[in-house]
Amino acid sequence: MPASARELNLAGASVEVFADAATASRNAADRIASTIREASVTRGKAVLGLATGSTPIAIYARLVALHRSGELSFAQVRSYNLDEYYPIAPTDPNSYRAYMQKHLFDHVDIAPNHAHVLDGTVPEAFAASHAAEFDRWIEADGGLDLQLLGIGRNGHIGFNEPSDLSTEEAKALPTRLVSLHPVTTSDAAKDFGGEANVIPRALTVGIRPILAARSIVILALGANKAEAVAAALQGPITARVPASLLQTVPGKVAWLIDEAAAKQLV
Ligand code: F6R
Repeated sequence: MPASARELNLAGASVEVFADAATASRNAADRIASTIREASVTRGKAVLGLATGSTPIAIYARLVALHRSGELSFAQVRSYNLDEYYPIAPTDPNSYRAYMQKHLFDHVDIAPNHAHVLDGTVPEAFAASHAAEFDRWIEADGGLDLQLLGIGRNGHIGFNEPSDLSTEEAKALPTRLVSLHPVTTSDAAKDFGGEANVIPRALTVGIRPILAARSIVILALGANKAEAVAAALQGPITARVPASLLQTVPGKVAWLIDEAAAKQLV
């Protein structure tokens, strides 16, 4: 694994600060590759929670390169993506299903029925039961070996947006249909050709299944994440900053961030 520039221990979580985004992404990819290899051998399968967005693109490129060079197989991998817009067709280029096919699934040996993304086409009356079923699939697979996360500028993880819930209520949130926060729709405007075109709702894996993962790798890159990173790591545990709920499971969380995203840590 590439050496990290410096390591911090904040709120019991491991925080590695890298000189640049490429090195942080490579470290994240190598952790995922190690988990895939180890769990494939010890349990006969590796169960991953995967993220989309701009942050993990370099991670998937590295995983595809490892696969192409014969160093990594996804034959034993089961994956569960964090979120999907609702409603959306899987063929829509803005769908997270399309993103995953483009950046990872189309290029590796993962079976189609092992690569799960929440379905943006389910009838609305069945969205809740589809979401609950997704949680049951994860549990039936023995739980997540590793959950990969990004962080929103508002501190969201998945599309678990800031709320006024109590900490206990927020920690219990299951996979479900949600409305996106204004900061999230504003950040998605570039993908949809304007904020007015952003699909305002999404299915998201809940806080409860995220915190239940056996290990969590959260990547934050760039100065626009610095405030959310500092609030999540050094602020109070609160549903106002969903990533701060990771402080409740410190031993299994690895933050991989670049110097720009670390700027507001004190
Ligand atoms: C994506 C997801 C989101 C993103 C977050 C950061 O599946 O769950 O929480 O990780 O919005 O997005 P980027 O990486 O585009 O800055």
